[in-house]
Amino acid sequence: MTNSRISGFYNLTLEERRAKLAEAANQTPEELLPFTTGGLSAESADHMIENVIGMFSLPMGIGLNFMVNGRDVLIPFVVEEPSVVAGASFMAKLARAGGGFTATTTEPLMIGQMQLINVINMNEARMKIYEHKEELLAAADEIDPILKKFGGGARDLEVRMIDNSPIGPFIVIHLIYDVRDAMGANAVNTACEKLAPLIEAITGGKVHLRILSNLADRRIARARCTIPVSELTVGFESFKGETVRDGIIAAWAFAATDPYRAATHNKGIMNGVDSVVIATGNDWRAIEAGAHAYAARAGRYTSLSTWGKDKDGNLVGTLEMPMAVGIVGGATKVHPAAQAAVKLMGVKTASELAEIIVCVGLAQNMAALRALATEGIQRGHMSLHARQVALAAGATSDMIDKVAAQMVAEKAIRVSRAEEILKEMEKI
Ligand code: MEV
Repeated sequence: MTNSRISGFYNLTLEERRAKLAEAANQTPEELLPFTTGGLSAESADHMIENVIGMFSLPMGIGLNFMVNGRDVLIPFVVEEPSVVAGASFMAKLARAGGGFTATTTEPLMIGQMQLINVINMNEARMKIYEHKEELLAAADEIDPILKKFGGGARDLEVRMIDNSPIGPFIVIHLIYDVRDAMGANAVNTACEKLAPLIEAITGGKVHLRILSNLADRRIARARCTIPVSELTVGFESFKGETVRDGIIAAWAFAATDPYRAATHNKGIMNGVDSVVIATGNDWRAIEAGAHAYAARAGRYTSLSTWGKDKDGNLVGTLEMPMAVGIVGGATKVHPAAQAAVKLMGVKTASELAEIIVCVGLAQNMAALRALATEGIQRGHMSLHARQVALAAGATSDMIDKVAAQMVAEKAIRVSRAEEILKEMEKI
């Protein structure tokens, strides 16, 4: 059983952290080795994309304290921004006091789109597609026997009429496909390409585009957490719990009503979501596209999360968003560090991974809102940012913290100042 609470993790050396992680996750150092080496060989990379010349690394950190559906989970984050891992871990600790996170997912249904143009009678074509629905679903079902063996396959066909487009009316056919533990893009695109000639024969029209939709609104992940008011002041003892709670709710109200604020609010959610999506080798552009399209589904862009209080006055947060992630195929399969990440989380299905990711998004959102609603984002951000600036100025080992601390004290966090401080320290 994994224990996600590792006290003092931040203060350990890299080596000590790796040893603690292996112990807490019940894994051997070999199982965690891909995190140390970066995991991907140049040879594998050469087969992944074109014109490969090398590799590009990002830091991987561990999100602590998470309890998702009653299970402790250690969560790998891949991200370049300071405060993300610390913020999520801290909020997971507060959420733990209220029972941790509860998360659910819908069935892993993806949508494939086919654009049918040059149709003489739209209503007639629509009816004909429905008349042949079973035969079309059976044809789509055949494309991936392995997926079918694991319970996936074609589930439904929906026909939409687009009345006023710049090229006039056309039909869009949605193929609903259960992709089980895959992200699903390949299966869905293949199925759409297979159905296209059949649909053309049935309707007499021409199937133009055949591609999955990243607005994966049939594949939703949902998370909820309750934070006791007393926990909200941890680290901010000069504030009253109710003040912090109401401040978070007011911050959410801003995002719920104003797209300018909602974009930043949702960016904070994606700080956490993308970090785990990347760590597991998933397609973060697909997740980003789906999230923002979902946030605008009512016709106006809004917050993906909600914040309010329960009957006892506790803070309650929820997050709901599309989550098209897989644990088989694609980069997840090829990248040893992504595989090690999936294993570290003890995830056996894509749905379980989606549930963890949506909880991370909610924790990250709370971290940002709690800071914004109290002392502002900059204080916490700045000390971590200062370390990055010190690094950029050439500081190494214990000089990083010393240079950073001096810049924070002076409120002058610039590479030029870090260079000066470094020079002064080197003289001593
Ligand atoms: C920064 O990466 C994310 C925040 O701007 C999110 C927010 O404003 O809610 C702090």
